[in-house]
Amino acid sequence: MNEHVLACPVCQRPLQQHNKQWSCDQQHHFDQARQGYINLLLPQRKRSKSPGDDNDMVLARQRFLNSGLYQPISDWLNHAVLTHAQHSAHSDHIVDVGCGEGYYSQRLADTLRQHSPNLHLYGIDISKEAVRRATQRSRDVFWLVASGADMPILPNRVDILVSLFTGLMPEGFRPVMAKHGQIFTVNAGAKHLHQLRHILYDNVRESDYTPTPRMGEHFDCLNDSTLTFDIALKGTQQITDLVAMTPHHWRINQAARDRLAQVNELTVTVDVVMHQFAVKTAQGVEHDAH
Ligand SMILES: C[S@@+](CC[C@H](N)C(=O)[O-])C[C@H]1O[C@@H](n2cnc3c(N)ncnc32)[C@H](O)[C@@H]1O
Repeated sequence: MNEHVLACPVCQRPLQQHNKQWSCDQQHHFDQARQGYINLLLPQRKRSKSPGDDNDMVLARQRFLNSGLYQPISDWLNHAVLTHAQHSAHSDHIVDVGCGEGYYSQRLADTLRQHSPNLHLYGIDISKEAVRRATQRSRDVFWLVASGADMPILPNRVDILVSLFTGLMPEGFRPVMAKHGQIFTVNAGAKHLHQLRHILYDNVRESDYTPTPRMGEHFDCLNDSTLTFDIALKGTQQITDLVAMTPHHWRINQAARDRLAQVNELTVTVDVVMHQFAVKTAQGVEHDAH
């Protein structure tokens, strides 16, 4: 199958491309931006004027990811998704929800392209700033401004969905997932960046977050794995960039920012967990965990 699976955000009917415009048979039209992305987030669905990460956060994330320090996470995800794709009859339609400025989506597309020549990879983020930046990474990915809670994708069409460091929206994922579809999530583990958290907070709690309960109504967890490695951060810019990529950016007070500004070098532990989910079946059929 080599076709688009985009749905009109107004009436949910298929969207077709005519040059730089996308429209449905109900005459709802959406222009492709000059940079190549499509904005399918309806103004009435926005909770704020500029939802999602702002420009400074997007730039901080891009600088940090371009350093390559998180490449092991991308390689690890790509290996898991490719292994699954190699054992699956369907892997052409892939969505990265909360794709940010596109680092992981672009590397995933590069990895999967050889295996799936008909690959359609959709990078979806609610932040227009992030999606704009993502278009500079690759024109090989379909970059969409949209919410993961209400994706402009036809029902039952997504073979693989990935979501890294982004709040999970299982109610939004379920309608678009194919019956055989699988989801890969990557989140912070218990020890993630603990040296940094000791600088930011007086009392550091180990996170015991797991996505399984949140996903449980619609998806079965097939397996989970952990990746742990140390990285050496150099310079205050790189350290503050890393903080700007995390929820600590919103949480820390001025005293913590002042302490952070004094740190010029820091080795931190990256500790991340990946979960693989399958769509729950009514009959409780066994899933293939590749
Ligand atoms: C922590 S960032 C992770 C970005 C990217 N996955 C990465 O790891 O580099 C979370 C991203 O989710 C986006 N986001 C927040 N709410 C969203 C929603 N409802 N739908 C889609 N994206 C959303 C933010 O704009 C931000 O880019």
